[in-house]
Amino acid sequence: MCGIFAYLNYNVNRERRYILQVLFNGLRRLEYRGYDSAGISIDDYFSVSRNPDTPQPSSINSLSSSPLVFRQEGNIESLVKSVYQGLVVELMVVLVLSEVAATELNLEESFTTHAGIAHTRWATHGVPAPRNSHPQTSGSGNDFLVVHNGVITNYEVLKETLVRHGFTFESETDTEVIPKLAKFVFDKANEEGDQTVTFSQVVLEVMRHLEGAYALIFKSRHYPNELIACKRGSPLLLGVKELNDDVCNGSAFHDAKFLSKNGNPKELFLSSDANAIIEHTKKVLVIEDGEVVHLKLFLICISSSSSSSSSSSFQFDPKFAISFYPTPFLKHEGGVSILKFNNDKGRNGDSLSARPASVQRALSILEMEVEQINKGKYKHYMQKEIHEQPESLTTTMRGRLLRGGSCKAKTVLLGGLKDHLKTIRRSRRIVFIGCGTSYNAALAARPILEELSGVPVTMEIASDLLDRQGPIYREDTAVFVSQSGETADTLLALEYTLENGALCVGITNTVGSVIARNTHCGVHINAGCEIGVASTKAYTSQIVVMAMLALAIGGDTISKQERREAIIDGLFDLPNKIREVLKLDQEMKDLAKLLIAEQSLLVFGRGYNYATALEGALKVKEVALMHSEGILAGEMKHGPLALVDENLPIVVIATHDACFSKQQSVIQQLRARKGRLIVMCSKGDAASVCPGGGCRVIEVPQVEDCLQPVVNIVPFQLLAYHLTVLRGYNVDQPRNLAKSVTTQ
Ligand code: AGP
Ligand code: GLU
Repeated sequence: MCGIFAYLNYNVNRERRYILQVLFNGLRRLEYRGYDSAGISIDDYFSVSRNPDTPQPSSINSLSSSPLVFRQEGNIESLVKSVYQGLVVELMVVLVLSEVAATELNLEESFTTHAGIAHTRWATHGVPAPRNSHPQTSGSGNDFLVVHNGVITNYEVLKETLVRHGFTFESETDTEVIPKLAKFVFDKANEEGDQTVTFSQVVLEVMRHLEGAYALIFKSRHYPNELIACKRGSPLLLGVKELNDDVCNGSAFHDAKFLSKNGNPKELFLSSDANAIIEHTKKVLVIEDGEVVHLKLFLICISSSSSSSSSSSFQFDPKFAISFYPTPFLKHEGGVSILKFNNDKGRNGDSLSARPASVQRALSILEMEVEQINKGKYKHYMQKEIHEQPESLTTTMRGRLLRGGSCKAKTVLLGGLKDHLKTIRRSRRIVFIGCGTSYNAALAARPILEELSGVPVTMEIASDLLDRQGPIYREDTAVFVSQSGETADTLLALEYTLENGALCVGITNTVGSVIARNTHCGVHINAGCEIGVASTKAYTSQIVVMAMLALAIGGDTISKQERREAIIDGLFDLPNKIREVLKLDQEMKDLAKLLIAEQSLLVFGRGYNYATALEGALKVKEVALMHSEGILAGEMKHGPLALVDENLPIVVIATHDACFSKQQSVIQQLRARKGRLIVMCSKGDAASVCPGGGCRVIEVPQVEDCLQPVVNIVPFQLLAYHLTVLRGYNVDQPRNLAKSVTTQ
């Protein structure tokens, strides 16, 4: 997981200062995806443009000067500083390094067409350091540069082979093999007399040798003003901003041919997610696995003959036969072209050895607003997202809950599921699959789904299902829960489940994500963009969607009518109850002050609130960096009780439900061992949960039992938030974590 971004301005003058700003802002928007180091590459035409008498090149169709690369350890701001203040830790150019200090960059220099790439890293291979940051390079000339999200699993074999062919490696990353392989392919073609090998032919060839998950953007000095994006597994979007309005007004942009119209000033953006694109344009193309998107817009068109290149073939290694496929888009003048490896098996028995075909795709419109990705009046995204839960829950339920007329029952309408409800009801079992907070949300919804549907519900942490290759049957319904819709473990579990023939239902916050696209049906939680790495509003919206799912599957059996209506009423009232519980903000801040120096925190829950214990503890550990453990209260005497003494703080969740008396007894036993208790109870229950006083009490509004986890998690979110701020840690970017985990 990481953020990759690119900006290509075509036929519109942009100063270097502006280009840098767009790249940095793109990275800032993506920083939540990874933040241990960052880098960019821009063009350096100083050899031409430093002479004021030399006209600016509007398009270059020969070897340009080497692109500049800036890479820095730390967050985006350290990179920005290093570029503007000349504190460049590493600046790689073919020419004299130190002479091209960033301070010497001519920020006013203007480019009619320019392609820049950028990366914010979440390391998988090699410590955060400039040499391991991206763009990774093919060597000192920066012939090929690559930004990468993901992991190349066969990089060691490729590296060995490239070393045998004389390449030297500077980083410990898996990524470095990619630009070097591109250079190898390019040089080989040229050595063999093929001067017309195109950028996409090089990349297609490179892609055939890569295994693993990736989203990649390539930049090359051999192909100035062009970029190539491709992906397999990791997400990637293309944003298109036509600067000549009449071309894209009305429905013209729905025409796929629009993408290849030449000449009109355009700005093109490539990004790991929509956050970095939305401030520029809402018109996007969600790039699909196996696609190679070539941004190639020229004022002066380079014409290449596909027939001459198609015949080239040579040996990289006995195992690595390299041959180029004709690239059909070259027949027209250039633009944005998309080549796709089709799913048929090729000559090596895999889809990548099959012949790539040219495809046409229509753009879609992003349904989000820039305001959604700003912090507004809040200091941190996590804080904003906790406080916007009354609104996010309202949006989640909008149009889906029907109160009914005087004689009509209250019902739930989940459009994406209505054709599949019968199949789900007839399932042998429902299997929830997810990771982290999404798993916890499913766990919170499990009891109500069992109760209303009568179908057995089992829980699977995605990685564990894969490790065990656990049984999945055709008669199962598998529900995939994921905020991002791109978590690697969950995606692999989805692939596995599809292979086993189960009906796959997706519950995700991300429209167009892999989970949304590859499941048979599903529900978007519509919580709005969640940027804080700690999931908060997505958790509560996920539970609400799953409660609605339970209502929808449960149908309208008379015996459950009263219960159903109570839940629907409870759902309608939930945003108000969340507003009420948010008033505990100061109280939770005070509690955080008390706990600031603690090493550990235990949270006991059961029934509906076992999930709250797990999720509350997860919030505290992931952002406040304090050990915290959620424990099923029924397991207390089977081990955890040994930890109890007068020092260790313990939160017991004892809100009013069928397990209340059992939790009262847990509290008694903990008190008998002098436990340092904080009890969460329903409003008015303080005396009965803590007779005689002596424990700290958090009173929360009571709601229908199955919805109580939605209310109960909020004080934990607030506690985790304040603890983190008080302990001086970064709330939105917790150590070692990133928003979505796109590699296993
Ligand atoms: C949430 O606070 C965590 N950062 C993490 O557990 C997260 O929920 C998990 O990685 C699953 O992500 P997903 O919902 O995007 O699939
Ligand atoms: N595997 C690459 C690296 O470690 C990319 C990691 C990422 O997705 O940020 O550099």
